[in-house]
Amino acid sequence: MMKVKSLKCMELVLCCCLILSCIVSTIGASSPLKVGYYRKSCPRAESIVRNAVTKAVSQNPGIAAGLIRMHFHDCFVRGCDGSVLLDSTSNNLAEKSHPANNPSLRGFEVIDEAKAKLEAICPNKVSCSDILAFAARDSALRAGGIKYAVPSGRRDGTESVFDDVTQNLPPPSLNAEQLVQNFARKGLSLDEMVTLSGAHSIGVSHCSSFTDRLYKFNATHPQDPSLDRKYAASLKRRCPKSSAQDRTVNLDSLTPQRLDNQYYVGLKYNRGLLTSDQTLLTSPLTSKNAWNNANYGSNWSAKFAAAMVRMGSIEVLTGKQGEIRRMCSVVN
Ligand code: HEM
Ligand SMILES: *[C@@H]1O[C@H](CO)[C@@H](O)[C@H](O)[C@H]1NC(C)=O
Ligand SMILES: *[C@@H]1O[C@H](CO)[C@@H](O)[C@H](O)[C@H]1NC(C)=O
Repeated sequence: MMKVKSLKCMELVLCCCLILSCIVSTIGASSPLKVGYYRKSCPRAESIVRNAVTKAVSQNPGIAAGLIRMHFHDCFVRGCDGSVLLDSTSNNLAEKSHPANNPSLRGFEVIDEAKAKLEAICPNKVSCSDILAFAARDSALRAGGIKYAVPSGRRDGTESVFDDVTQNLPPPSLNAEQLVQNFARKGLSLDEMVTLSGAHSIGVSHCSSFTDRLYKFNATHPQDPSLDRKYAASLKRRCPKSSAQDRTVNLDSLTPQRLDNQYYVGLKYNRGLLTSDQTLLTSPLTSKNAWNNANYGSNWSAKFAAAMVRMGSIEVLTGKQGEIRRMCSVVN
């Protein structure tokens, strides 16, 4: 009798502990990071990254889009641990080689350049994952005048696995419900998902990411009816059915170089390029959020900045976890 009771008690305690540690680890997702983490150990860390980004973006504005996307792809796969920056090796296919990243992900050379400068002035101090988080922030400032402080202190992971990309990154074919679920798995809300999708107000997509909408929507409709007719016609000219080359198209047809809320305005005109874009306004689940972002640009910018910080704290490594990589493309 006694034995059974104490066993039950133990189970209860264990269960409570589990729940508690679960709560702590979710809430604590952002708390181990802090703004100005390198103030003492490498005071010029953030300005060196900013200079590298400014230089690169003034030569090629598309790099801003590349760096913001790279931070997203880092954070959704194994957390923001710089795993997206690691090269494949003879016995490991890394995230970088996945079709979601290769060949479209761009801006790696900016991270490498900032890292080289930082290793020269404060070796072994600034993680690659932090450099990427800073670079995404600096890109948002260049491309949209969006300003926010980045909590830092991330450490770099030592593994990068091809299949993790398939498991975690949302493909462009998803509908609103699937997108909400995908982001919820990373602790991000429905509104954060809709708001972060506004990153598609800059940058480009390859034709291969959306041509199903033009040529093979379903058995009875070759073309997605939620796509504006004229827009679809111009996309077909740009992306012919049988084309050897995979061309690129601006994600936001209204203000393609400016990180702003015009992406959501484009959705009102049925000019969302990806299925995952147009669904945000078409689906009753998210349409109110998308309309709000279309109508209130400064509210969207503020929410975007906050959501970037939240995304940047997904499953981060801190303290003694991981390492500070010496080169961002290889583990130490
Ligand atoms: C909501 C789910 C999302 C899906 C399904 C998605 C999918 C895609 C796809 C298919 C492309 C085009 C890739 C290509 O063909 O070249 C793209 C580009 C891009 N994505 Fe997303 N994305 C999502 C969310 C995000 C988020 C949260 C961000 C950042 C906060 C982001 C930032 C970007 C940027 C900036 C580009 C343009 C990249 C460039 O021009 O180099 N995306 N996305
Ligand atoms: C194809 O899509 C259209 C428009 O959404 C829809 O009305 C139709 O029922 C679909 N047909 C099939 C065979 O799924
Ligand atoms: C955006 O607007 C909503 C609704 O008006 C408000 O609750 C929210 O605080 C605003 N968010 C930001 C970050 O300004």
